[in-house]
Amino acid sequence: MMIAQGFSTNNEIEKATEEFINYFFSYHRDLSKNKVNCEIDKNKLKQLREIGIPTQGRDIKTVVNEMVEDVYQYGYSVNHPRYLGFVPGPASMISWLGDVMTAAFNRHAGSWMSSPAANSIEQGLIKWLCEQAGFNENSGGLFVSGGSMANLTAMTAARDEVLDEKTQHLGVAYVSDQTHSSVAKGLRIIGIPDSRIRKVAVDSDFKMSAKHLEDLVQKDIRDGLVPFIVIASAGTTNTGSVDPFEVISLLCQRYGMWMHVDGAFGASVLLNKTHKHLLKGIELSDSISWDAHKWLFQTYACGMVLVKNNKHLFNSFNVQPEYLKDLKTEDDSFNPWDYGIELTRPTRGLKLWFTLQVMGSDGISNAIEHGFQLAKWAEDELRKNAEVEIVSAAHMSIVNFRYNPLNMTEDQKDELNQIISYKILDSGYAGIFTTELNGKKVLRICALHPGTTEMDIRGTVKLLNHFFEEAVLEGMFIS
Ligand SMILES: Cc1ncc(COP(=O)(O)O)c(C=O)c1O
Repeated sequence: MMIAQGFSTNNEIEKATEEFINYFFSYHRDLSKNKVNCEIDKNKLKQLREIGIPTQGRDIKTVVNEMVEDVYQYGYSVNHPRYLGFVPGPASMISWLGDVMTAAFNRHAGSWMSSPAANSIEQGLIKWLCEQAGFNENSGGLFVSGGSMANLTAMTAARDEVLDEKTQHLGVAYVSDQTHSSVAKGLRIIGIPDSRIRKVAVDSDFKMSAKHLEDLVQKDIRDGLVPFIVIASAGTTNTGSVDPFEVISLLCQRYGMWMHVDGAFGASVLLNKTHKHLLKGIELSDSISWDAHKWLFQTYACGMVLVKNNKHLFNSFNVQPEYLKDLKTEDDSFNPWDYGIELTRPTRGLKLWFTLQVMGSDGISNAIEHGFQLAKWAEDELRKNAEVEIVSAAHMSIVNFRYNPLNMTEDQKDELNQIISYKILDSGYAGIFTTELNGKKVLRICALHPGTTEMDIRGTVKLLNHFFEEAVLEGMFIS
């Protein structure tokens, strides 16, 4: 039977899909030959905003072409091998295929009964990830849309476990000045205003100072407040630094606080045989955020929240409305909607499971290892230039550096490094942005892509050196 979809028949849809997939394969094969970014001008943006919705449906092939040509080609290709900014999204084709299947079958994975097999697989994978983190059999968790949602979910459970109605307005949270901004956002959402978020100082390696943390906690207790959570990081976004989990855990036990670890970026190192030890002590935490759409090469949106005791998620999120009673199970099967914020959710963990099945744990370990190697190559090439200061040496897959010529003021150097970033972005060769460390603007490389080569990295640094010299020659910075 032919079902009309606007003016497109099933046949036309199938043909357009096939053509798109063939186009996408060649786009993906040629990715590294293309520019990292493609700018769009204001007129084009205005035009797109004003397209409107037609009364009569349009030819599907034309609309597919428009989406490819006029929409998806613009902006940053975060899965390009030389996109080295923020935390890249080097999604693999395996994950892409897993995602295609998720969308194709469009299962409702909010309840056990609507997707029993998929939920079994997701829960088996969550258990396996908990084991990798060193959590025991009471642990559990959920696939969520990313690190921000994982942080929010875990912090909600922490609030409900440690605070009660009488103390909620007194709860204090502790982060470091390197903690990701999604944590402050999540804290606001759960009712902790900025005035009750303490920024703990970091040491010279950008790790949270346990001494300062304890001083702040003691002061808050003296002031009649209730310290309830410390958010430590397994791989901060700026430098990849890992907070001292063991001593933070001791303080959490001493003062009755929940220990959350934001591992959105760095928890993937748990699956890397060589560097897993960097996260020693993470098993002492109460909860962990972990993004698979970062260093586990998944398409967006795939993250995990893991908790040492799964009942904490249930306590915070389970509600039993009458219209869902038919889907309640008698045995211990698990309804994801009782453990997190979403009711309707896709089978978003299956693409990660699929990826791990195809790559195996050795394959994923090697792919993660490559990120460490890329950062080392970058640092090695940068050190050849005497005018480069390495501000934070290669750690995990990140290195921070600053062009630091003798004859400039610090403000001029800030401007210089910003201009170098603009220049390389304008060239389209690589995506490199700035951040700030110790009050100074630095350039930052975060390299995760298993397809990035040594030549990509050394070539990028050579081009940065070239843009440095060009900017100086342009004469804007000589005092
Ligand atoms: C350490 C850390 N936490 C949380 C997040 C937020 O994750 P998401 O963008 O998946 O919400 C990021 C994103 O880069 C991150 O690096």
